Amino acid sequence: MGATFFFRDTQTLKMIPYTLIPLILEDEDHRSNRNINIWSAGCANGSEPYTLAILLKEILDEEIFSRIQIYATDIDPNNRFENIIKKGSYPQDSLKKIPENMFLNNFIKDANIQGNYLISEIIREHVTYAWHNLLSLKPIIERPFDIILCKNVLLHFTEQQSTDIINMFYQSLSNSGFFITEQTQKLPISSSRQFEQFISNARIYKKNNDQF
Ligand SMILES: C[S@@+](CC[C@H](N)C(=O)[O-])C[C@H]1O[C@@H](n2cnc3c(N)ncnc32)[C@H](O)[C@@H]1O
Repeated sequence: MGATFFFRDTQTLKMIPYTLIPLILEDEDHRSNRNINIWSAGCANGSEPYTLAILLKEILDEEIFSRIQIYATDIDPNNRFENIIKKGSYPQDSLKKIPENMFLNNFIKDANIQGNYLISEIIREHVTYAWHNLLSLKPIIERPFDIILCKNVLLHFTEQQSTDIINMFYQSLSNSGFFITEQTQKLPISSSRQFEQFISNARIYKKNNDQF
């Protein structure tokens, strides 16, 4: 468990700065300039939240990017991810899919580990890691999330467990929030009234506030 890599499914992730964040910012709740809270649930070694942070930094205005907070969580059975994510040091091989300009803008050689590169501090400041078990069905913060990503994780659970986790995501999202999963994951039937598929070529779901 835990296979992941930088710049996985960028077609879906790029929709976040180009389409979802502009829509989220139209919401009344954001006129007070509150943070834009994103949860990468089941983040493994951090490739997913860091890929997203790089895309957001490269695509969004500086002021909007300064309001982005990404919470990255995992059950981390081998207790490895916290150190990796906090340090932000990755082997060059795992970074090969990053476009050259984005790689040059956001990484420097790790002087302590040959062949590794360190992700820049400006990116690291926007990603906070915490240990979390999704099956606890408890959100990690009280504030609402604007976007929750849970990619390549739900396939490990039973349909009932997935339904319960998606329900917890539903409760944790702001009214204008989005839930994102991997291309091959379908919503369980009992979750389908809670969300509407936002776009046909990606598993991006908009919270449905009129489900009853
Ligand atoms: C294949 S990785 C997905 C990484 C990343 N989301 C991606 O799509 O590239 C699946 C991750 O789910 C995590 N996971 C499995 N069960 C979990 C649970 N109950 N709570 C939180 N994370 C869990 C695993 O530890 C693993 O890191």
